[in-house]
Amino acid sequence: MVLARLKEDIDTIMARDPAARSRLEVVLCYPGVHAMIAYRLSHWCWKKDFRLVARVISATAKVFTGVEIHPGATIGRRVFIDHATGVVIGETAEVGNDVTLYQGVTLGGTSLEKGKRHPTLLDGVIVGSGAAILGPHTIGAGARVGANAVVLDDVPPGVTVVGIPAKAVVRKDKTKAEEFCAYGMPTDEMPDPVARAMDALRDQITALSERVRELEGTPATVVPLTVARSEEEPPEVPPTDGNDQPPAKAAVSA
Ligand SMILES: CC(C)(COP(=O)(O)OP(=O)(O)OC[C@H]1O[C@@H](n2cnc3c(N)ncnc32)[C@H](O)[C@@H]1OP(=O)(O)O)[C@@H](O)C(=O)NCCC(=O)NCCS
Repeated sequence: MVLARLKEDIDTIMARDPAARSRLEVVLCYPGVHAMIAYRLSHWCWKKDFRLVARVISATAKVFTGVEIHPGATIGRRVFIDHATGVVIGETAEVGNDVTLYQGVTLGGTSLEKGKRHPTLLDGVIVGSGAAILGPHTIGAGARVGANAVVLDDVPPGVTVVGIPAKAVVRKDKTKAEEFCAYGMPTDEMPDPVARAMDALRDQITALSERVRELEGTPATVVPLTVARSEEEPPEVPPTDGNDQPPAKAAVSA
């Protein structure tokens, strides 16, 4: 049973982390796996009423993994705590199956009441790095919480929330399938940063040309910004009167 769960955890990481190269590497180098092993042991002790032993196991695991899971928390199967450091899961938190938590996630409480005060994450939820879910809220199945978001309310199933306080956002590309994505976002078609900078420059030049045209009352000369430009003839620049200064306001309004 214990070994079967461990194998399941390793399979989960192999499937969800593109950086994982071998099972041995996962067993040796993934603190999230070590934290889950320690949690299962501490949770077992907690349920058998060995409360102090459970707390000691949990506190010791925190030193070695950077993950603090209260032994009273309820955590499902195939839960992946990626990078692990700084994750805190409170006593009455409930985490479903196939949930992914990144480093720095807090499933915390906001009240000192003894009852349910931590969140419930249903199956398939992904919580981005540094996010905090505070209070006994329910995060619906398949919902995603953006990095550094602070969630103070329930999140409906399948919805993505970001920001402080977290609000629902619509995916830029709604045609993308909602299958699991490492890091909670698509990595295909990642835009080339140089191409993006060139695009931004071209947009800026077009806007400036448009503005100059408005001011001068002449047709705009938009120079297409392409990489091939340097190999071609230099663009024709409209003749000026030799004065590089922008036209004076009085001349513009004339
Ligand atoms: C929230 C998340 C899942 C959204 O991914 P997505 O569905 O592809 O969403 P998009 O990238 O289309 O973004 C949708 C909008 O949310 C905004 N947004 C995305 N992530 C955000 C975040 N963490 N905080 C604030 N705003 C965010 C985008 O800027 C965009 O806003 P706009 O429409 O005004 O431009 C993703 O951005 C995220 O935070 N994943 C967690 C990754 C992580 O923690 N990795 C750790 C690796 S070690």
